[in-house]
Amino acid sequence: MSDRVDQHCILDVKKTGRTVKITVDDKEIEAYEGEPILSALLASGIKINRYTVKKHEPRGLFCGIGQCSDCSMVVDGKANVRTCITPVKEGMVIKTQDGLK
Ligand code: FES
Repeated sequence: MSDRVDQHCILDVKKTGRTVKITVDDKEIEAYEGEPILSALLASGIKINRYTVKKHEPRGLFCGIGQCSDCSMVVDGKANVRTCITPVKEGMVIKTQDGLK
């Protein structure tokens, strides 16, 4: 796996480790357990995390430190999860967030 986030100012990013499967919008991708979800998404070419409420505009990585919420997605049924600071766990089901849900 390449093109990953391998340094992060607040997270202990795993450069290697156990490879797990997660599902993103019904597509299974590989990730390293413990890496930020956003890192796995970027490595798989996924750059849109949510769409805004009013104008339905796409949003993705902006701050990368859990402050802006542009990377929010629905993770295991829970909306507004900031994927840049949430570690990957095996079997996670992740969906692009549309508005507030
Ligand atoms: S990119 Fe800003 S909170 Fe995740």
